[in-house]
Amino acid sequence: MDRPYTILSCAMSVDGRIDDTGPERLRLSNPADFAEIDELRAGCDAILVGAGTLRADDPRLLVRSPVLRERRREQGRTEHLLKAVITRSGEIDPNARLFSTGDAGAVVYSGGEGAETAARLLADLPDTHPPAEVVDAGDPPTAEAVLADLAGRGVSRLLVEGGGHIHTLFLTSGLVDELRLAVAPFFVGEEDAPRFVVPGVYPHGPSHPMRLVETRALGDVVVLRYRLGDER
Ligand SMILES: NC(=O)c1ccc[n+]([C@@H]2O[C@H](COP(=O)([O-])OP(=O)(O)OC[C@H]3O[C@@H](n4cnc5c(N)ncnc54)[C@H](OP(=O)(O)O)[C@@H]3O)[C@@H](O)[C@H]2O)c1
Repeated sequence: MDRPYTILSCAMSVDGRIDDTGPERLRLSNPADFAEIDELRAGCDAILVGAGTLRADDPRLLVRSPVLRERRREQGRTEHLLKAVITRSGEIDPNARLFSTGDAGAVVYSGGEGAETAARLLADLPDTHPPAEVVDAGDPPTAEAVLADLAGRGVSRLLVEGGGHIHTLFLTSGLVDELRLAVAPFFVGEEDAPRFVVPGVYPHGPSHPMRLVETRALGDVVVLRYRLGDER
């Protein structure tokens, strides 16, 4: 299958949680790590999150640094990345900031009734917004279908940025090339706090481990990089 080189990036606590149960998003990175993630984003063509992250965080998914945006412009690219969202239900808030910001548009992947729901909810986005499209990626949507569609749009490098269910979907599919984890120096310790992944069948179990290619400290945040699958 023709698909983008796929990088999954996540910040977690030492107990593997990617947020707490409070209303505000928990900061698990420090400024140095945020700057690296911005650089990682700027090197990609598209960025993808799940509907759960959209609802919890209302992220804009932009390249923050003006220098990095300028560099993309000089390369003949859009300043920001194409944004992708995966939803089963199609219950997507048309007022989400993701749709009103950026310059490369958005694609919402859903399937069946979910795709109809999303298309209805997004039908009246203002003309001033970047374009947003709903694409059928199966019911439920699969990572394979999403990646194939993105490849067809010329996306050669994709950044998957959460949340836990979307990490699980991609990692269990065996379609992630690189995993970047930032580990914060504290515990969350709450039973219901979102996890990095949920139970599933992972190709990289104890008998087929990932390849650790980098460990680094950014202040007191540890960055781990793994390669998965065959070299590409
Ligand atoms: N620390 C980090 O790096 C980081 C990064 C991003 C997010 N987060 C945190 O992660 C949390 C959200 O994670 P989450 O796991 O609840 O949500 P999520 O993974 O962002 O999204 C889950 C949603 O994806 C949709 N979906 C589509 N296909 C699916 C499939 N095959 N399997 C499962 N879901 C599918 C469903 O949407 P529908 O409900 O519409 O059907 C589901 O509710 C938030 O607290 C956020 O702050 C942390």
